[in-house]
Amino acid sequence: MEKQIILTSMVLFMYCHLNLASSWTVDNFLMTGPKAFLTYASSVRIGARRGIQECKHQFGLEKWNCPEGTLQLSTHSGLRRATKETSFVHAISAAGVMYTLTKNCSMGDFENCGCDDSRIGQTGGRGWIWGGCSDNVAFGDKISKQFVDALEGGQDSRAAVNLHNNEAGRLAIKATMRRACKCHGVSGSCSIQSCWMQLAEFREVGNYLKMKYVQAKKLDMDKRTARAGNSAVNRGDITHTLRNIARTELIYLEDSPNYCVKNQSLGVQGTEGRECLKGNKNMPKRDRKSCRRLCFECGFRVAEKRINVVSTCNCKFHWCCTVKCEKCTQVVTKYYCV
Ligand SMILES: *[C@@H]1O[C@H](CO)[C@@H](O)[C@H](O)[C@H]1NC(C)=O
Ligand SMILES: *[C@@H]1O[C@H](CO)[C@@H](O)[C@H](O)[C@H]1NC(C)=O
Repeated sequence: MEKQIILTSMVLFMYCHLNLASSWTVDNFLMTGPKAFLTYASSVRIGARRGIQECKHQFGLEKWNCPEGTLQLSTHSGLRRATKETSFVHAISAAGVMYTLTKNCSMGDFENCGCDDSRIGQTGGRGWIWGGCSDNVAFGDKISKQFVDALEGGQDSRAAVNLHNNEAGRLAIKATMRRACKCHGVSGSCSIQSCWMQLAEFREVGNYLKMKYVQAKKLDMDKRTARAGNSAVNRGDITHTLRNIARTELIYLEDSPNYCVKNQSLGVQGTEGRECLKGNKNMPKRDRKSCRRLCFECGFRVAEKRINVVSTCNCKFHWCCTVKCEKCTQVVTKYYCV
């Protein structure tokens, strides 16, 4: 087996095979020693996993479906790619880490962190004042940056792109936050409200970043420059290019490989054998077309498989107090690319 490194999923890898204290040197101005570091580290690991789970959900019916395997790139080819897909992985991982740290903070899980009370008592707008527990995203932002961005050791253009996408992920957390309010006033008249900013569901962050993925911008750079490695000139070039791109946008350097066809050296699994969904009207349009996308567009056909699913049914309540059920077999049809 050739030696493999885990690229974009370095985040995941390091958190899972964790030897955190020795893996990182972190500029720890906010941390109060090894104990706090380890407390945050476990939260970081949970957050990274949350990000990857969301990635799997968002790409479950896409040709590239966020598999662990494809994130591994072999070192010997000299390719560490920065595709649209790796940009999403960076963003969603960074977002997951920031999200979890921020939630932990609001829940009072950390000694040195609590709700953002900086505006409490101030007027927010007509009929409302700041109150309650606003999620402390400044804390989540700062700590997650220290952990996640520290993984990007390189000085090359890919490193700059990865850091940009990490930041875009963290900004997605802020962009999807919303105001929640509670009514006050005489007998619930709601003449005055107190409001706070809270994180959206993480699913919403995933949806938002998926949209950014669809709109991701390819940096117009010479291929040789993109792959050349560690020159300072290179880094300078990209810093200049990045200045013209909004921090919220995902960016990438290289076109995606063909995800239809298995290619081990690229870590691409191909879509053969993948399950797709036959459309019904209640599904989102993109899901309805999943068989066409995964199978037909890739030169496969769709095979039907009938599968027996056993479940409990016809349950009856007997006096007193038992429930008796029968086992029913239901035939479910599933569809696969072959
Ligand atoms: C942080 O929150 C996660 C759930 O999102 C929980 O599993 C974990 O234990 C929390 N961390 C701490 C230090 O309490
Ligand atoms: C895998 O991808 C590489 C790089 O694009 C290409 O040179 C090679 O021919 C591909 N292998 C297969 C089996 O398609």
